[in-house]
Amino acid sequence: MVQDHPNLIQMKGITKSFYGTKANDNIDFDLKLGEIHALLGENGTGKTTLMNILTGVYFPESGKMYFKGKEISHKFPGEALKIGIGMVHQRFSLIGNLTVLENIILGLPSNKFHLNLSERKKLITEYAEKYNFSVDLDAIVDKLPIGVKQKVEILKMLVREVDVLIVDEPTTVLTKQETDNLIEILKKIASTGKGVIFISHKMKVVRRVADRITVLRKGKNVGTVLPEEVSSHELAKMMVGRIIESSIEKTSRDSQKKILQVENLHVHSDKGLLAVDSLSFEVFTGEILGIAGVSGNGQTELAEALTGNRKVRDGKIWFKDRVITDHSAMERIDDGISYIPADRVNVGVAGQRSIWENLGLKIYRKAEYRQGYLLNNKKIKNYAEQIIEKYDILQPGINFPALLLSGGNLQKLIIGREIEAESELYVCVYPTRGLDVGATDFVRNSIMDLRNSGKAVVLISGDLDEIFSLSDRIAVMFEGDFVSVFENGKYDIAQIGLMMSGHPEEKILKN
Ligand SMILES: Nc1ncnc2c1ncn2[C@@H]1O[C@H](COP(=O)(O)OP(=O)(O)OP(=O)(O)O)[C@@H](O)[C@H]1O
Ligand SMILES: [Mg+2]
Repeated sequence: MVQDHPNLIQMKGITKSFYGTKANDNIDFDLKLGEIHALLGENGTGKTTLMNILTGVYFPESGKMYFKGKEISHKFPGEALKIGIGMVHQRFSLIGNLTVLENIILGLPSNKFHLNLSERKKLITEYAEKYNFSVDLDAIVDKLPIGVKQKVEILKMLVREVDVLIVDEPTTVLTKQETDNLIEILKKIASTGKGVIFISHKMKVVRRVADRITVLRKGKNVGTVLPEEVSSHELAKMMVGRIIESSIEKTSRDSQKKILQVENLHVHSDKGLLAVDSLSFEVFTGEILGIAGVSGNGQTELAEALTGNRKVRDGKIWFKDRVITDHSAMERIDDGISYIPADRVNVGVAGQRSIWENLGLKIYRKAEYRQGYLLNNKKIKNYAEQIIEKYDILQPGINFPALLLSGGNLQKLIIGREIEAESELYVCVYPTRGLDVGATDFVRNSIMDLRNSGKAVVLISGDLDEIFSLSDRIAVMFEGDFVSVFENGKYDIAQIGLMMSGHPEEKILKN
């Protein structure tokens, strides 16, 4: 039993406050050798903070920490990594315009690798092979899908030979296959005499990967359990203190009007390759069109093209009977299109700007929020407060920079802002990733409310449960085009899974 193994990490009585609120309140936590220990809890409950203390990003007000039995106290963030505690952050820290290799080498102590570039490359390749990673070391990081970036972050830690690997929300953007792959990698890492701390909101994944699960609620440790001893329901109850019953109400659709028409759309990826290839489809008012697919099949590029964030190479987009193909992102907002992007940190928010400015992004140009040429800041702040209230955004104060929000609360900020923008078409990409069970339920209901009130929604998601529970019609995207578009209910998960790997609809019908 892993529980009987010696401790790699012990944290005792850790307390840390921000502006008078305890983000961590007298927390005990330990990690055993060879163990994968999951940390669960609602958004803003102190998971990332606790790990930031373990890695020296923050200094606790009280509490003690031990690494392999010896007391540790980091003076600066680099110290933790030096002794063998490494973290892959919720918000990646890679440098986009450098290659994978350069990112991995960057900051490595020179005495570790007295090697030239090709020798280093060889060594890193050996690490990659040992843990079954397939990553192109010469690729520019910015051009990689988010799932691959994450592998690069993990590889970066492995090359540094950490004993303790912390991964914060690693599976939120991964497909099922990528998640399976990651689980294998983490198990392998743990089995080689290391320990892994795994933070995730995905209960199924947590229960598959973890040896033990510790649940935090409002900054406190509410218990450590074995996955085989608790159901997902019980875990959710530990997290929020009550039972979550999700119910999504779908009203019947009345007369629908075509609101979006896409014809023969061609869009390039960052690499200049054809990412969306001769794609045509329509979206109607009062419907959710779910787009299922393995990530990297053009979904992100499609969302960007629909919202004016990526150039259309060929083809046409009509919105409310007007051609908007060449409209900029700003013009599309005025046209009535909202966008919840996959990359919420780089695209969704201006992190250094205040929380209220970020919440006001969609409305500040409206006459009612201006006084002549000036902004009516008071009114915008009021508006921001209302969204915070409605979407239950946990935040330290609206004048603080948005980047101080926890991962899930940042996502709630974007969702609240976009939904409240009174648009007519909502392009939502992975809208619930990184959200806890309660917030996920709330967001799914909000999306359904949009549809029930006659708005149109394009929902891009890697989560087939989400696609099934919300969509009216489902499109399966493969290599830049739709394999098929059908009414929700026509095919089951297994059949859609086949289409996602490129099987044509006719073949599936015959089976
Ligand atoms: N540097 C900071 N300054 C002010 N407040 C902070 C800072 N870092 C975290 N907080 C606050 O501490 C609380 C806990 O945040 P933390 O990031 O640890 O939550 P989390 O459990 O990781 O949530 P999520 O699941 O959303 O990522 C939040 O209310 C957050 O706003
Ligand atoms: Mg977090």
